[in-house]
Amino acid sequence: MPLHLLDHPLAAHCLAVLRDRRTGPDAFRRYCERLTLLLAVEATRDLPTAPTRVDTPLESTEVVMLAAPVVAVPILRAGLGMLPPLMHLFPDIAVGYVGLERDEATAVARSYYRKFPPLEGRVVLLLDPMLATGGSAGTALAALAAAGAADLRLLTVVAAPEGLALIAEQHPQVAIFAAAKDRCLDARKFILPGLGDFGDRLYGTLDP
Ligand code: PRP
Ligand code: URA
Repeated sequence: MPLHLLDHPLAAHCLAVLRDRRTGPDAFRRYCERLTLLLAVEATRDLPTAPTRVDTPLESTEVVMLAAPVVAVPILRAGLGMLPPLMHLFPDIAVGYVGLERDEATAVARSYYRKFPPLEGRVVLLLDPMLATGGSAGTALAALAAAGAADLRLLTVVAAPEGLALIAEQHPQVAIFAAAKDRCLDARKFILPGLGDFGDRLYGTLDP
């Protein structure tokens, strides 16, 4: 399982803002989008291109253009926060959805929704900002593979060693792009140091 960690001062700055408990939902959403843009650029560095020709205002020249359709699949609900930059970067992107929610007591993810576009022959980017136990991402990757996805890539903000190990074991072919690899999980299976509950911070649903 290739792990690609972002190594860029802007990524480090965005992550610092996301980690800060004082960051409210509006700034959290904006910094999530900025960081995801950097993840998306890194995760699509090797997208296939095809040569073609265009006329500039001065002459005809050879250019290359994207040659592979891209699919983004956010895991509801927190993964939705990562979707806007993908849609800006790839205007023709197809979007699928998978709904998964961790049981608060067991931290085991329960599946409640699934809708995928055609996946065969496409580059499929799974969006899940927190790779904690890896249960949610592992379940989503299995569903995507069963639906025909062969080129699967996982974009995440913070990855725990436990989640990385699970994905390496269950989906060794999946490349993971993350802003940080954190220390470990706590007793509630939250990432340390982490940034708390991503979905609650994104949507302002934290208990007061
Ligand atoms: C969070 C997060 C991930 C998942 C990671 O979602 O957004 O999808 O936990 O944990 P795991 O690696 O241990 O499975 P959550 O279940 O809290 O749902 P939400 O996004 O709707 O808040
Ligand atoms: N989900 C989150 O939102 N945060 C964690 O730390 C773990 C799972």
